[in-house]
Amino acid sequence: MTAALADFFRAFADFSLAPYAPRYDAMTRAAADNAEVMALLAAAPPDTHSPNNLQAAAHYLLLSGVDHPLAAAYEPEFDGDPGPAFCDLLLGHADAVAELLATRVVQTNEVNRTAVIAPLVNWIGATTESPLALIDLGCSAGLNLLFDRYRITIGDASLGPADAGLCLSAENRGGPVETAPAQIGWRRGVDRNPIDATDPDQARWLEALVWPDHPDRLARLRAAIDELRNDPPPLVRADALAGLESALADAPGDLLAVVLTSWVVYYFGDDLRHDFEAALLGAARPTAWLAMEMAGVVPDVDTPPPPDGAGEMSAMTLVTGGADRPVERRFLGWTHPHGAWIDLVV
Ligand SMILES: C[S@@+](CC[C@H](N)C(=O)[O-])C[C@H]1O[C@@H](n2cnc3c(N)ncnc32)[C@H](O)[C@@H]1O
Repeated sequence: MTAALADFFRAFADFSLAPYAPRYDAMTRAAADNAEVMALLAAAPPDTHSPNNLQAAAHYLLLSGVDHPLAAAYEPEFDGDPGPAFCDLLLGHADAVAELLATRVVQTNEVNRTAVIAPLVNWIGATTESPLALIDLGCSAGLNLLFDRYRITIGDASLGPADAGLCLSAENRGGPVETAPAQIGWRRGVDRNPIDATDPDQARWLEALVWPDHPDRLARLRAAIDELRNDPPPLVRADALAGLESALADAPGDLLAVVLTSWVVYYFGDDLRHDFEAALLGAARPTAWLAMEMAGVVPDVDTPPPPDGAGEMSAMTLVTGGADRPVERRFLGWTHPHGAWIDLVV
């Protein structure tokens, strides 16, 4: 069991980490080489057997005030090997780590995705006279629902209030950027496990999920949480299908219902993907589904080959239907999975 876990950790590091996240890579490999750490994880519930859970548990303890040399690895200027300190912290706080592994769910909310979602919500808004009902399905803490409260720079275009507390940016690799703000008449986040970021402990767990290599992501996340606390969006705990159906029923009928998913449908099984799309397109009201997902997740979209050498990316897709309208599926462009760049074809 522990040998298989160690192999999984090394494969994860090979595929997903170095050189994108060298500190987390070193921590993951050190954990794989440490039989006691592997045994600690093997004793936890099986769905926690990943490097993400261990990294988050260690980071959470540091953010909770545990004084340990591993804290240096989360500082921007760190230049060393965090592996030994990572294992030392985990084994020195084994009971607390086991408790976190048993009770917490790995669930991120990447607010920089908003930088590539916002211009497309604006673009949808520009196609209709009515304001939008925005439903962020799989919203996590709901940070992306607040897209119009952030200042966003995409190439030489700017969106959102100039005095916003959080500034986001994306490189523009192609296509026009719609800067005129969409009118949002109603909004709701839905998640099977919504995070209440106004609760300091839940916010700390969200922060703990950020890898040590990305202090800029942590700073963005904290600024977004501060913004959310000023006026939190309504979040509903529900599974995807029930949450979609109730949001479509509750949103005012004169608004165009725009359902946003960002790296969510990717987690659905085939049956749920089918039922989700059928509920959306068969709704009694006009609906639009803006998907930021791995290519192929939204069925039957004519998606071109991805640009050479761009690495991992998200396909942006719009599917419209509902109210007996003919179904239309459009590929809108490619983006970086965390919103670092956008390359639109619309
Ligand atoms: C990778 S996170 C993405 C969160 C957010 N959309 C973002 O872009 O940062 C996936 C989210 O989808 C939610 N999720 C996954 N499957 C779900 C389901 N069947 N019903 C409701 N929420 C689901 C998870 O709880 C999690 O919050």
